[in-house]
Amino acid sequence: FLSEFIVLKRYFPGRKYMQTIKTAVIGLGVISEVHFDYFKNLEELKLTAVCDINPERVKTAAEKYRVKGYTDYRNMFEQEALDAVLILTDHFSHYPIAMCAFEHNVHVLCEKPITVRSSQAQEMINMAGKKNLVLAVDFCLRSIPHYKKIADIIHHRLGKILRADIIETRYFRTMAYYKSAVWRGTWKGEGGGILMNQAPHILDLIYWWFGQPEKISARLANKHHDIEVEDDVEIFMTYPEDARLRFYSNTWETPAGEYIYIVGEQGILSVNDNEMKFSAFERKIKEIINSPSDSLKDQISHTEKIEKETIPFSSQYEITKNFIDKLLGKTENLLVSGKDAAGSLLMANAAVVSHMQKKEIILKNFHPSEFDQQLEMLTSGKQRLTSRD
Ligand SMILES: NC(=O)c1ccc[n+]([C@@H]2O[C@H](COP(=O)([O-])OP(=O)(O)OC[C@H]3O[C@@H](n4cnc5c(N)ncnc54)[C@H](O)[C@@H]3O)[C@@H](O)[C@H]2O)c1
Repeated sequence: FLSEFIVLKRYFPGRKYMQTIKTAVIGLGVISEVHFDYFKNLEELKLTAVCDINPERVKTAAEKYRVKGYTDYRNMFEQEALDAVLILTDHFSHYPIAMCAFEHNVHVLCEKPITVRSSQAQEMINMAGKKNLVLAVDFCLRSIPHYKKIADIIHHRLGKILRADIIETRYFRTMAYYKSAVWRGTWKGEGGGILMNQAPHILDLIYWWFGQPEKISARLANKHHDIEVEDDVEIFMTYPEDARLRFYSNTWETPAGEYIYIVGEQGILSVNDNEMKFSAFERKIKEIINSPSDSLKDQISHTEKIEKETIPFSSQYEITKNFIDKLLGKTENLLVSGKDAAGSLLMANAAVVSHMQKKEIILKNFHPSEFDQQLEMLTSGKQRLTSRD
């Protein structure tokens, strides 16, 4: 199918013919600047049109990038022969825009979260599959080298995972941030608080590293912001054989920090901000426990530092480059597919239901409609976020 839709060949000096992907950007807010910034380094992406419901933003971007501007994405899809679109709008609009793109046979790279409701994420995945189109999601942490190294250690060197603790407080936000756009900090506009906006990045890492847990129990709270949604989240996840993972994050704490501690049967991986290391055990932990000596010495065979590496432009660039490479047939693998993104969304949806209904969720029995009904109660104001205790 790739050869069918990539029809444009342009001549570049010093090269032979090059294929380009005619791409539109929908949503010209904060994150669009990050994306526009690397386009100059991605010459296979040909920016063709921009769209936003805000006419001023359309005018500015259309003039700056010398492309056609639209205030209605439906008109844009009707009038432009696009190969791909970057959807950079607020959360609830990802679903209708992506579905419209697929109807017009346009590939989609969508900002995180893929959408708010798992039920709609599944529809997006099904539609893309039916139309043989690519659906990628900008969970950009997956392109960062040290998170890739951590994934590799978890998947190949730690052995069976016994427990993990992940605390992420790099998401400090002021009230000025929550007031910077009407959709922020509301059930109706954002679909949640930290759990739907910032924490999805870490839930995506958890899903990538460990897969989906069997059970989820969550506590949401609004601790320090004058908003209706949560600014504080703690999720307890249970994996097979009773392996436990605790995840905690908030948007009220500063200075920021990242703390990851993962114990496997063959070693320990720890991240304390910039200090990252993997310590391998001499023997499996069970053998150490059952050894005749009670000495705690020499159980670590060696410790390796995990170094941070720089990436050429930005983590978003890496995701978009991978998307474009996939469309050009240069790679088979998407860094984050729609299916990947839906995996962590289900966990986030289950966490909201767990908190509001004060119960542990068994994920295999969890139906996305339970979240849809819960969200309806919250957006309509029939229910408010209250403490679980
Ligand atoms: N990957 C990351 O690290 C990262 C970082 C920040 C934001 N994001 C995500 O990017 C998305 C946008 O966030 P933002 O901070 O740029 O928001 P923003 O409010 O600054 O910008 C959103 C823009 O979308 C426009 N818009 C809304 N509905 C539209 C529609 N139907 N058609 C066309 N335009 C429409 C708005 O007018 C606005 O200009 C969100 O999903 C957010 O979670 C991702």
